[in-house]
Amino acid sequence: MARSGLIGSASLVFVASTLFFSGVAAFTPLVDKRFSYPDGIPYQVDTDNLARGTQTGYNRCNSTTEGQSSLCQTAFINSVDDFCLWAPINPNSIVGNVEGEMVAWCTKAGRGTRIIPGGALRGVQFMKTPDYVQVVGFVDQAKINIQTGDEGGEMDPHGADLRGNPLGGLLYSNAYTGSWSQVIEWHNFMGSDIFCLKACDPAGPNAARFCEHIYDRIGCAYNAPNNAQSGVFESCQGENQDFPGVYVQNGVTQTYQQPAGAIGQLPYTPRVPASSSCTQFASESIYTAGATVSAPVPTSSGSSNSTSGATSQTSSGTGGPTNTSPTGSVPTTRTQTATGTAPPAGQSGNAASTLVASGIVTIFGVVFAGLFFA
Ligand SMILES: *[C@@H]1O[C@H](CO)[C@@H](O)[C@H](O)[C@H]1NC(C)=O
Ligand SMILES: *[C@@H]1O[C@H](CO)[C@@H](O)[C@H](O)[C@H]1NC(C)=O
Repeated sequence: MARSGLIGSASLVFVASTLFFSGVAAFTPLVDKRFSYPDGIPYQVDTDNLARGTQTGYNRCNSTTEGQSSLCQTAFINSVDDFCLWAPINPNSIVGNVEGEMVAWCTKAGRGTRIIPGGALRGVQFMKTPDYVQVVGFVDQAKINIQTGDEGGEMDPHGADLRGNPLGGLLYSNAYTGSWSQVIEWHNFMGSDIFCLKACDPAGPNAARFCEHIYDRIGCAYNAPNNAQSGVFESCQGENQDFPGVYVQNGVTQTYQQPAGAIGQLPYTPRVPASSSCTQFASESIYTAGATVSAPVPTSSGSSNSTSGATSQTSSGTGGPTNTSPTGSVPTTRTQTATGTAPPAGQSGNAASTLVASGIVTIFGVVFAGLFFA
């Protein structure tokens, strides 16, 4: 009797959960999706058609997709001369307008992506720590389709609707174990001719905290404090950073809350962790693939996706405010966003939708738990 009773309730739960999933939600957040590289990757990892529409590009990338019109949304971070950044499809774009549609721009050929053109990278520091690998540096962002002067924003596998920015974007690394791992938690800030991409080791207990995604308006200095230097190309070992947003003041551990409105003066300066065993490289000549690729040239009418005039675009790409800091402090003083000027385009309004999204998740979670524990 006890046995059939058990089977009875198990069937009830099965029926209820089947109804629940088929009727209400088959949605899976991007961070819960797992694909082994390369054979486990589907054409697109995001097959939903929700408020933000469908995934723009694809994840199965190969020799037929390779080149400067690639829409590959599978990226890599392995070493100082082998990494990708998320950047726009079309020249002269504003990051905040297209963060859901970014594609992979990589330093190496052979994985079906776009190539970062020669001359774009102006200083790169790769760092491996116990819990993550990170690449930080200086970029002539017009050469990877970001409008000159755009302060940019954050890409990560979350987003207000949990589909990621870009939607369906995947990241892989062979830097943790020597074989491919899917990076589950990562963040990538692009803008003001600076970039940082941190990829947290999925085997680490604090991946979600080191690669925190809620501080989307305070840039590399606060999310990936570093001592990268303009004009220097190097690969280092390092200690872990503190978790973004966490700092100690008068002996008390505090957690910064990013305000919905103006950022203003932040109450702390992040600690830049020690680095060691840095190997320096002579120049950007380590990026051999880029040498064969020209930078995109925006049309004068601007295929712009821009909300402001595109008149300052330098199609030669030789301008650009990089190399202004021989001491190399630019990434750690990205005060454009940190001191309360306008937030990066497209970033405002996220807080409310994040709340809505987490409310939905909470409601689903409660309903789901109710099915099992009622
Ligand atoms: C190459 O990638 C494209 C785009 O994802 C896909 O349609 C095609 O099937 C792939 N080819 C192979 C041989 O996997
Ligand atoms: C960007 O501009 C191009 C060309 O005008 C257009 O096809 C594309 O849809 C735009 N993308 C966005 C996100 O506005």
